[in-house]
Order: sequence, then C-alpha cells, then structure tokens
Amino acid sequence: MIVCHCQSISENDINAAIDWMRASDPETLITPGKIYHELGKAADCGSCMPLFLSTMRQNDNLQVPMHLRNLRSGSKERTKTG
Ligand code: FES
Repeated sequence: MIVCHCQSISENDINAAIDWMRASDPETLITPGKIYHELGKAADCGSCMPLFLSTMRQNDNLQVPMHLRNLRSGSKERTKTG
C-alpha cells in the first residue's frame, strides 16, 4: 500500500527503512524525517503524516531505547530541585 503519494513511499518501504536503521544502530531515534532521508526522499505536502506515523507505530523496531525514555519528566524534576 502506498502511504506517501508525493514520493511513492509504500508501507513496505517504511518498514524496511525502520528495520535497517534499528539493525544498524540500536540506540537511534527513528523519525519520519530520518525515514525520508534514508529512502533518499523528502516530504512534500505532508498530508500523509497521520498514515505515515500510524504505519511507523505498527513496527516493533520503532521502540525508543530504554535510556532515552522519560527524559522530559526527568528534566522537570531537575527544574524543581535545581
Ligand atoms: S503525500 Fe507524503 S508528502 Fe505528500
């Protein structure tokens, strides 16, 4: 299924890019921009973003590395005490 019609990016393209990025760097944060870059393309109209993100979220390799989780709540605590 085509997810991004402007750049002809399919669901399989997105999953392949996520899987490759996770395999090459287990700690990387995977974003739509990185996927476009990995595929040698750039977003155009952006109307595909809801479906693009939904497709990304269905891939088990999208998980944020454990040590990078909860950074936002950690920074609040530092602010309160500091
Ligand atoms: S449909 Fe993806 S950028 Fe336009």
